[in-house]
Amino acid sequence: HKDLLDVSQLSKPEVMAIFETAGRFQELQERPVKKVPTLKGRSVVLFFAEPSTRTKTSFDVAGKRLSADTFSLAKSSSSLTKGESLKDTALTLQAMAPDAIVIRHWCSGAARFMADRLDCSVINAGDGRHAHPTQALLDSFTLHQEWGDVAGKTILILGDIAHSRVARSNVILLTRLGAKVRLCGPRTLLPPALKTWPVKVYSDLNEAVKGVDAVMCLRLQLERQKDGLLPDLREYSRTFGLGARHLELANPDVRIMHPGPMNRGVEISSELADSAGSLVLDQVASGVVVRMALLFLYMTRKGEE
Ligand code: CP
Repeated sequence: HKDLLDVSQLSKPEVMAIFETAGRFQELQERPVKKVPTLKGRSVVLFFAEPSTRTKTSFDVAGKRLSADTFSLAKSSSSLTKGESLKDTALTLQAMAPDAIVIRHWCSGAARFMADRLDCSVINAGDGRHAHPTQALLDSFTLHQEWGDVAGKTILILGDIAHSRVARSNVILLTRLGAKVRLCGPRTLLPPALKTWPVKVYSDLNEAVKGVDAVMCLRLQLERQKDGLLPDLREYSRTFGLGARHLELANPDVRIMHPGPMNRGVEISSELADSAGSLVLDQVASGVVVRMALLFLYMTRKGEE
C-alpha cells in the first residue's frame, strides 16, 4: 500500500510482518547508539493539526532513529490559522517532495483526503473519530509481546467509545487477530452503529470485566463533547472508572492499558495506572518501534517487492 489510513486495509500476514519488523527494531533500543542509516536522505513531514504528545514525539524519534529528516508542522504555527484549506496545505507540502506525511486532523477522512492528492505515503496519526491505525498496531504489538499471540484472549475496551478513533481501530485489529472484544460505557457514549460491530456490549462494568485478559481504558474526550451529553465526572468515575475492586473479577494476570493521555481518577485510578499489571508505558515504548517499522515499510515499500 502507498498509505496507511486504517487497520482495515491490513491483512493478518501484513500485520505480522509489521510486528516482525518492529521486533527487529526493538533490539536497537537496547544499544547505546540507537541510530541506523536505513532512511538516510529521506524526509518525513509530521503535520499535526490536533495536539499530541505520544504520537508526534514517537514518530519524530522513530524517523530520527532511522536517520530520516523529520519536519514538524502544527496547526497553531501553520497557515491553517490564516484560513488556508486542507487541499492547498496538501499541495504545498507535496511541492516540497517529502517521502511521507504523517497527519493528525480533527476531521474524519482528512488522511484519505491527503492521500488521494499526494504521491508520497500518507500515514494517518488520528483523524477525527474515525481511525488511529498506528495506535491500534502498537496496542496489539504490546499484547503480542506479552502473550506471544492475542488470538483467543478477551479484551475489554472501556469508556468513551463514541468519540474514540482508538476504539474503532482496536476493534477491527484485535478481532482480525482472533481476540474477543467487549465494550463497556454509558449508553450516551456508545456509537449508534454498534450493532454491526463484532463485539459484546455491556452496560455494567462488573459484568464486563469478568474473566477478561486485558482492559483498555479510554479517555473521556471532553473536547469532542459539544452536544450536551457530557456525563457528571464523579458519577462517571463511580460507574465506569476502573479501580482495583474490578480486577478481582478479571483474569488474575489481567493487563491494564490506556492509549493516553489519562484522566487519572476519572476513567482509571492512579493505583491501577501505576500498578505492576499496567502496560501504559510499554505501549509508549512499542509506539517508537512500531512507527519505525511503519516508516521503514511504507517509505521503502518493502512489502511490495
Ligand atoms: N495515544 C495518543 O494518540 O496520544 P497523543 O494524543 O499524545 O498522541
